[in-house]
Amino acid sequence: MAKSGGPGAFVFGQEECKEVMEVLQGRYLFRYGDENTEGYTHKVVDFENELKKVMGAKHAVATTSGTNSLLACLAALGIGADDEVIVPGYTFIASISTIMLSGAIPVLAEIDESLTIDPTKIEALITPRTKAIMPVHMLGNPCDLDAILAIAKKHNLYVLEDCCQAVGASYKGNRVGTYGNMGAFSLNLFKTISSGDGGAVITNDDDLYERAFGFHDQGHKPNRMGVEVGNRSFVGMNMRMNELTGAVALAQTRKLDEILTTLRTKKAMLKDMLKDLPHISFRKINDPGECATLLTILFDTKELAEKFCAQTGGRPIAYSGWHVYNNMEQVLEKKTAAKTNNVNDRVYYKHMLPQTDDILDRAVNISVGVVDKGLGSGYGINICSTEEEIKAVGENIRNLILNL
Ligand SMILES: Cc1ncc(COP(=O)(O)O)c(C=O)c1O
Repeated sequence: MAKSGGPGAFVFGQEECKEVMEVLQGRYLFRYGDENTEGYTHKVVDFENELKKVMGAKHAVATTSGTNSLLACLAALGIGADDEVIVPGYTFIASISTIMLSGAIPVLAEIDESLTIDPTKIEALITPRTKAIMPVHMLGNPCDLDAILAIAKKHNLYVLEDCCQAVGASYKGNRVGTYGNMGAFSLNLFKTISSGDGGAVITNDDDLYERAFGFHDQGHKPNRMGVEVGNRSFVGMNMRMNELTGAVALAQTRKLDEILTTLRTKKAMLKDMLKDLPHISFRKINDPGECATLLTILFDTKELAEKFCAQTGGRPIAYSGWHVYNNMEQVLEKKTAAKTNNVNDRVYYKHMLPQTDDILDRAVNISVGVVDKGLGSGYGINICSTEEEIKAVGENIRNLILNL
């Protein structure tokens, strides 16, 4: 069994094997085909249809990663040179780098104690160049979407939901990714469900679907047969998911709700054991439909968080390198592979977001379903942990905190 990774990776089983074997036996690994294509098992199309059903979205496009999903969304929305996109300073680097790679300008925003973008700090960042807000449903917790959507509506901005860490989370009864104009998902090893790598875009808008699909496959119209010269909308990329990945993604999507139910039960058990402790609180959860992949403890002080982590072998979230703007030297120094002028008039620097820094210095992630040192959640439980194991981890955390 996996030692680190997301909950989906911990529950790989016969279902994934069966889907993959069907593809291999057909010996046809490309996503396009029809009833006349020998060996074609349409796993990518089945995955897209399953995802649409589960998410309650009109359209889905499978891709090769969450990063590429974000790029395809930005392209679909027509975001590029001189446009600004508001994005939180606590997120995986891809949320920010894809804005830069689109030729646009990331404008970093504060988070609040939900560890997602602070809606009260967004309006001050809006300029005539602002085109979109990219809320990131960090660590499985839905953003305060009501507030964000109201701001977007008032200022006529797009909302692109980065749902990479929140596959399956819901907000007020609907899945995240369906509230904004578009939603982007990741299926990498550390996500709610996984195909090793992989991703998807969802949207309810026909035009945005066609554009995202086109960008993901050299500008082609959805579900092409062959190469349609003369019919392509614009230049695009190759972000096509292959059938082996589609097979695993399909089996995992079918397990999504069971995974979420299990995580929520196990997280509640662990959280309940810690609720009366001094020196701590928990991060704000914006909706009980969160993924429950992690339990985030907020210590009263940075010193207490560090002392606790010294005992578990972890580090406060402030030091989880790939996810905190302070640790993204390529962003702070505006280093892009090729010459761009899009970020030239923008200044980024360490500790430019004091509220975010204060929260992350005091925050510690305990794993529930996502076991990932890079996220600061190398310690805790996993989706397969038994009641005894959860009790043992809960007791240990209690003792550590009581003896700080
Ligand atoms: C919030 C967020 N956005 C985007 C991504 C990029 O996803 P991928 O690794 O599939 O490219 C990740 C992955 O860690 C993420 O956590």
